[in-house]
Amino acid sequence: MLTRSGLLSLLFTLLLPAAVLAGKWTAPPAAAIASAHPAATEAGMRILRQGGNAFDAAVTVTAVLAVAEPYSSGIGGGGFYLLHKAGDGLTSMLDARERAPFEATRDMYLDSDGEPTSASLEGPLSAGIPGIPAALVELANAHGRLPLQQTLQPAIEIASGGFAVDEHYRRMANMRLELLQRYPQTAAIFLHENQVPPLGHVVRQPDLAGTLSRIAAYGNTGFYSPLASGDMVEQIRRDGGIWSLSDLAGYRLLYREPVTTHYRGWRVTSAAPPSSGGIALATMFAILSHYDLESMSEGQRYHHIIEAMRHAYRDRAEYLGDPDHVQVPVDKLLSEEHVRSKLDWISSDEATPSASLPPVPVEGARGTDTTHFSILDGEGNRVSATLSINYPFGSGYVIPGTGILLNDEMDDFSAKPGSPNGYGLVGAEANAIAPGKRPLSSMSPTFLEHEERLVILGTPGGSRIITMVLLGALEAMRGGTAEQVASLRRLHHQYLPDRVVFEEGAISGSVADELTLLGHELQQQESPYGNMQVVIWDKEIGQVDAASDPRGAGSAAVLPRLSVARAAAN
Ligand code: GLY
Repeated sequence: MLTRSGLLSLLFTLLLPAAVLAGKWTAPPAAAIASAHPAATEAGMRILRQGGNAFDAAVTVTAVLAVAEPYSSGIGGGGFYLLHKAGDGLTSMLDARERAPFEATRDMYLDSDGEPTSASLEGPLSAGIPGIPAALVELANAHGRLPLQQTLQPAIEIASGGFAVDEHYRRMANMRLELLQRYPQTAAIFLHENQVPPLGHVVRQPDLAGTLSRIAAYGNTGFYSPLASGDMVEQIRRDGGIWSLSDLAGYRLLYREPVTTHYRGWRVTSAAPPSSGGIALATMFAILSHYDLESMSEGQRYHHIIEAMRHAYRDRAEYLGDPDHVQVPVDKLLSEEHVRSKLDWISSDEATPSASLPPVPVEGARGTDTTHFSILDGEGNRVSATLSINYPFGSGYVIPGTGILLNDEMDDFSAKPGSPNGYGLVGAEANAIAPGKRPLSSMSPTFLEHEERLVILGTPGGSRIITMVLLGALEAMRGGTAEQVASLRRLHHQYLPDRVVFEEGAISGSVADELTLLGHELQQQESPYGNMQVVIWDKEIGQVDAASDPRGAGSAAVLPRLSVARAAAN
């Protein structure tokens, strides 16, 4: 006779789909979210519990981050959403990147001597036309199941009720204090008595709650129509910006085919231009696939990774820009011939001085802040999204009466092709400013897929985003847990300046000596960088694991599915 537990076990076995019994979980046994703010992770989880899918949760997480992490991303910003729909297996990238206003000109940020000014970083003139409001509407209407009124509600509540200032907020506000003090409407929201608010101070944004409610009620019309944007445009122009009604009415999201590459049994899917992330990652993986990293000493392993970084960032500088405005030679960049031409430069005996490579007219790409979240739902839908308003607190300019803090993403263009930017990154004509153009980005939301594992990851960090994703991916491919991938110590090389920067503990003393002997210049960073958000689904053991970077204040959560019956429909 069967015992109670035996009966349960038999029932469980009968209910299990054949694919699971065969050792393959074709849908995850749990959902998971990792994001840079606990309120966003919690709100996204609430939406999943209410029956929403990963795309509904992405709406909620985006909007809550916009409210509670105002220094990183927002309604006044843009980003890239890498989407995978379990139903039809389709993967695409929703490009919600800001566009240059139609009145933008190539030299708009140069002074009378032809030198770049801070106008690309501060005030309304530095703001591109935001894509996040359109992305919220598109995610809800085209992919979600729940109405925007429901998915935006958590953000509206936090905007009205407020959130408490933490240490990270204080650091970010301190970085841009003068700018925040410049605009009284900004200072009234984000400062306290015109200074960085104390810990625990509650930041309330009732105007932003109103803006979010209008988007919830009217969709795109609530932000981009002349009725909604007339006052905004008037204010922005009065304060020195160049937005027009047609900029708002003409903003379009784009679906782009992500960049996909293969590395040792893994499929790597990442952001397409106008992000440089996918192509740079594909270049680095293509180079590294010619070496057996695992059999190398740690010093040699890092040496080859650094050389791969050097070559990928050199290509980034020369070729990458908005594919709707310049021809980005994607096929050439990813061709075996091109990769082989790079291998000729790489020697295991010495570093290749960047100056010895064919020169590139120099430029930049930056962003010390930005945010990322990773979501997997119980059906296998996934979202990897990196969103930004560029520098901490963006342009520092809030459109009066709206609560919308504008981005300063225009600074991601080459204000002066041929000159290195604040991050020392170099670029060329491909990323020069033009009306309606999207600035080149480093944001690299990524999926890694293997027969046994699926990884969703990404991070903020300006020019270092791509190398952080590379190192995180290599760690995940070695079997690292979500926690190990998120907390991994980092190093970075970006072609110019020709040096390796690294976090404390990333390179041991003896490895540092080895790299120095090979000719690498090393520079330890004073503080850690990045804020990686990782979700891993191990299909072999049917386990979902998530982690938020310990360097940040975010959180990760896993929601086990109550039923496995839908876990492997096929
Ligand atoms: N604003 C940062 C980036 O797009 O790379």
